[in-house]
Amino acid sequence: MSHSSPTGLPSTDVKPGRRTFLQRLMLWGTIAAGALATIALSIPLVGYLLGALFKREKDWVRLGPIDQFPPGETKLKTFTNPLSQPWDGMVAHTGCFVRYLGKDEQQQPQFLVFAVNCAHLGCPVSWFPQSGLFMCPCHGGVYYENGDRASGPPPQGLFKCVWQVVNGQLEIQAPHLPTLQDTLTHPAWTPAQPRKERS
Ligand code: FES
Repeated sequence: MSHSSPTGLPSTDVKPGRRTFLQRLMLWGTIAAGALATIALSIPLVGYLLGALFKREKDWVRLGPIDQFPPGETKLKTFTNPLSQPWDGMVAHTGCFVRYLGKDEQQQPQFLVFAVNCAHLGCPVSWFPQSGLFMCPCHGGVYYENGDRASGPPPQGLFKCVWQVVNGQLEIQAPHLPTLQDTLTHPAWTPAQPRKERS
């Protein structure tokens, strides 16, 4: 029950212990509300990141039987990317360059599979078998047949796709648009760590 002071204003006769309790209650309420708001705001971001991670892990694109790739030749294989969205349009239809290196000492087939995107700004490169070079039409980037950078503005060689052979079929992990910070090989794969054929 409130009382009036001699000045006519309501008196603040809340006892010190009760006032401290109310202040703490308000403080913890504010903290709890802030934490709930932070969690609510971060759920979509976390879901997006985890979704992208797991989607990248599980989507494989079948490129077909390995005997369609003659040793030492580079072939363009096109496919519809399972990572595409309905609004991607014709960009969803993409491709990769496959170069069969032959079998290693364990008789395992070895491939180089390159993304079509230039390592400079992502334009699609073309393969010229006569010169044995990949060339980018945008700013003149050039790559050797093994994907290494030859000349022009690209800061590195072509991005390599992660591949596997399953029952004689070559598959690649569905590629996103690669960048220098977000390549297609996580963890990085090199021919020194060949992938084994699965049966
Ligand atoms: S995008 Fe290929 S050289 Fe610039």
